[in-house]
Amino acid sequence: MAIVSAEKFVKAARDNGYAIGGFNTNNLEWTQAILRAAEAKKTPVLIQTSMGAAKYMGGYKLCKDLITDLVESMGITVPVAIHLDHGNYEAALECIEVGYSSLMFDGSALPIEENLEKAEDVIAKAHAKGISVECEVGTIGGEEDGIVGDGELAPVEDAVRMAALGVDFLAAGIGNIHGPYPANWKGLHLDHLEKLTDALPGVPLVLHGGSGIPDDQIRAAIKLGVAKVNVNTECQLAFCAAMREHVGVFNANEEEYMKKKLFDPRKFLKPGFDAITASVEERIDVFGSANKA
Ligand code: 13P
Repeated sequence: MAIVSAEKFVKAARDNGYAIGGFNTNNLEWTQAILRAAEAKKTPVLIQTSMGAAKYMGGYKLCKDLITDLVESMGITVPVAIHLDHGNYEAALECIEVGYSSLMFDGSALPIEENLEKAEDVIAKAHAKGISVECEVGTIGGEEDGIVGDGELAPVEDAVRMAALGVDFLAAGIGNIHGPYPANWKGLHLDHLEKLTDALPGVPLVLHGGSGIPDDQIRAAIKLGVAKVNVNTECQLAFCAAMREHVGVFNANEEEYMKKKLFDPRKFLKPGFDAITASVEERIDVFGSANKA
């Protein structure tokens, strides 16, 4: 299937009580790993690049071309959206220009009036080209310079104003944070999510920081209106764990592995990327989107 925008399949998830995974990619093999998992599970999927990952990979156009070409060469049949994750205003405009099919404009660090003003502009420009748009109100916490933020609760009135602009899906903090959750994390504020959902009937909500939230809390959040869950750190940790183990096995069998040329990166890195595929498949089962393509 060709690359598609995400609003239809995310809305279908919202209406039918499951969530679509938004999985961040970091390179070629990462992208293949996510696509393999989505195809195996027969789920729609968003492959998303942060601004930093896009820069690392060689720019937005390269990312868009890479994902588009892989979808074709791998014979992917499920709907795939190419999504910008946490883009600033300039990045959002660039992604509209190069042909991303979906984007997040993250103006959450701006004063709310400016966030709304820029969001309205991005939504108009993106929708004119059939591109779906995610915006954010409040901020999502996380670890920065060793200081762990608790994860903020998005003001309901801000969420209502943002939704009224015609955003396709909305990220609103409910105590979630990016990166690993600290041991003393208090969990998702499902009561606040309920307030948001009551004020925004039918609007698909996005749960950022999807890595490491207990599955029962994720399922409860989906029941209360979350229709897209973002996952990045979990795949990074799966890759890292598998590679650390593999390096140990490699070192223990050095002579044999060198003789078999297992230092070839196409072979050497395979356990890491297989671990990402397994991790994505497992998340898709928890989100309930298998067989919804
Ligand atoms: P994690 O890295 O915590 O999974 O968060 C991903 C995310 O929300 C990307 O926007």
